Amino acid sequence: MTDARQGLPGLLDTEAIRKDFPILDRVIHGDKKLVYLDSAASSQKPRQVIDALSDYYERHHANVHRGIHVLADEATALYEGARDKVAAFINAPSRDEVIFTKNASESLNLVANMLGWADEPYRVDRDTEIVITEMEHHSNIVPWQLLAQRTGAKLKWFGLTDDGRLDLSNIEEVITEKTKIVSFVLVSNILGTVNPVEAIVRRAQEVGALVLIDASQAAPHAPLDVQALQADFVAFTGHKMCGPTGIGVLWGRQELLEDLPPFLGGGEMIETVSMHSSTYAPAPHKFEAGTPPIAQAVGLGAAVDYLNSIGMEKIAAHEHAITEYAVKRLIEVPDLRIIGPVSAEDRGAAISFTLGDIHPHDVGQVLDEQGIAVRVGHHCARPVCLRYGIPATTRASFYLYSTPGEVDALIDGLEHVRNFFG
Ligand code: ALA
Repeated sequence: MTDARQGLPGLLDTEAIRKDFPILDRVIHGDKKLVYLDSAASSQKPRQVIDALSDYYERHHANVHRGIHVLADEATALYEGARDKVAAFINAPSRDEVIFTKNASESLNLVANMLGWADEPYRVDRDTEIVITEMEHHSNIVPWQLLAQRTGAKLKWFGLTDDGRLDLSNIEEVITEKTKIVSFVLVSNILGTVNPVEAIVRRAQEVGALVLIDASQAAPHAPLDVQALQADFVAFTGHKMCGPTGIGVLWGRQELLEDLPPFLGGGEMIETVSMHSSTYAPAPHKFEAGTPPIAQAVGLGAAVDYLNSIGMEKIAAHEHAITEYAVKRLIEVPDLRIIGPVSAEDRGAAISFTLGDIHPHDVGQVLDEQGIAVRVGHHCARPVCLRYGIPATTRASFYLYSTPGEVDALIDGLEHVRNFFG
């Protein structure tokens, strides 16, 4: 199999990169070298991020925006500095458009609740419609179900084609003059599909609907330019892009953030408070009630620095090469069915599959015994499994530190699974 790997275009120097990720040296189950193929669930962290977190706690920690002492100033500068880094990373026109949340789910819920409490022209009510897709993560389904239940709005969605893409054939019936918001995923966490943003945004703009893009599986893997996307909001999370857990991002257009009401109330999000009423701080602070995830933001800033030091274009090229190789090898495995686009073109680096009638949990367990970490289940996207008539999938996902050798280990592991289950 080495031949097929030779000359894979665009591979990064993973030998050097992997030295930055101490956890990748782990040996598990006695003598099995860890093969980590679960980065779509959460990426591993480079030493640079771990050090930034330690340094923050060892030297600079205090609460932000509140103190007049040295540590409070340093912590504030680091926290706000992380906002600058994220703003530049996503090409935001203004740093004030970057809201820190605890994860992408909170970012998505925040938009649903902004709209839920908004006045005209943003108000969602029984005469309006919300549009999502059948390939959303639960975090981009449930908040809209809650909003629809609360307001009486109608929830609509785009279905899926047999090959794992959005069926946009009825786009004009799905997105109508009644649509208030279209919220969809840029890269599916279960299918790997990269969605056609332009067509959806164009139709949404025609009818004056807002657009929210869930970029959780996109931001870690390729350059993300919120201006080029032409959306109104973009959500993603830090822990899938080499950052710590507990930090997410919502980018929103400035005028919307000025107009829309806050969701969580508390310290730091106010301008003045009396016992009768309050006025609010300008965005982004209006949407960051309470002590924010300071260390986590600092860690995310370090992750952005790290990814920039490698180069997002290069990371995208590396993952494309690995994904192409993985697809090529996976389709040769007897009884293996890829759930999602089979071509490596316009797909992300998460590949779901079933293996005959072996339950994915069994596949995952036998792979784990060989040191190979994959995710199994419905991947918080259960409607996709229902659509394709399967209980679950096994998912292998790749990142900048993944190697062709790890793809080979997966293929050997699957061979072992097949033998094990006869
Ligand atoms: N959303 C994460 C995944 O797809 C947790 O695994």
